[in-house]
Amino acid sequence: MTKILTLGANGQLARNTTKAFLETTHVELTLYLRRASRLSNPAPDRVTIVEGDVNDNALLRNAMRDQDVVYANLAGDMAREATSIVAAMQSAGLKRLIFISSMGIYGEVPGETYRSVLDPYRDSAAIVERSDLDYTILRPGWFTRTPKSRIQITQKGEPFHGHDISIDSLSSLIVSLATTSGLHVRESIGVSDA
Ligand SMILES: NC(=O)c1ccc[n+]([C@@H]2O[C@H](COP(=O)([O-])OP(=O)(O)OC[C@H]3O[C@@H](n4cnc5c(N)ncnc54)[C@H](OP(=O)(O)O)[C@@H]3O)[C@@H](O)[C@H]2O)c1
Repeated sequence: MTKILTLGANGQLARNTTKAFLETTHVELTLYLRRASRLSNPAPDRVTIVEGDVNDNALLRNAMRDQDVVYANLAGDMAREATSIVAAMQSAGLKRLIFISSMGIYGEVPGETYRSVLDPYRDSAAIVERSDLDYTILRPGWFTRTPKSRIQITQKGEPFHGHDISIDSLSSLIVSLATTSGLHVRESIGVSDA
């Protein structure tokens, strides 16, 4: 059974993706978040909840024991968080990382200039890219609550296509990445509705 560790599990996208994992796969989930009392366990037979900050290195390393995939759904001081995640994964011998970033971190969105609000996303992505992990960095457009539909993917170095993305499409992509060996490994991909 694939075991997935979600970091920042109370985030909007993380909660949506937990639902998608439970509805469409048989994976086991560990949900790692600050102030865990905010989250009730949606499926105690398949879900473990761990209270913790990603910057707590010892706790994070402990939570990574016996996991197969790390799905990082974070915000805030993301460079520090990425450094902590990479170190903990290396020390736990874990390779597969799905890391949520944002469109625009390479100045790749046509007609939009790079904004400093993206610095934490750009800097954390660079830390992940410099690691030897089997990462996939996701650069989604703006989340919407529109129904799941076809998506378009662009690679690093290409202009970003589109603008918005259905959060259900994004969750579905994260599920595929976590459960399909080799899918978009060591890629930083832009994602939007087609
Ligand atoms: N919304 C959009 O349209 C859009 C578009 C592109 C990219 N993004 C980015 O995609 C990411 C995921 O989106 P989202 O909507 O799920 O964001 P979100 O709701 O803000 O979730 C981010 C989560 O990260 C957690 N977090 C931050 N620092 C942490 C730490 N040190 N340790 C543990 N947890 C920590 C927060 O926990 P607390 O609840 O404890 O604060 C929060 O639950 C975000 O970075 C967002 O900016 C969003």
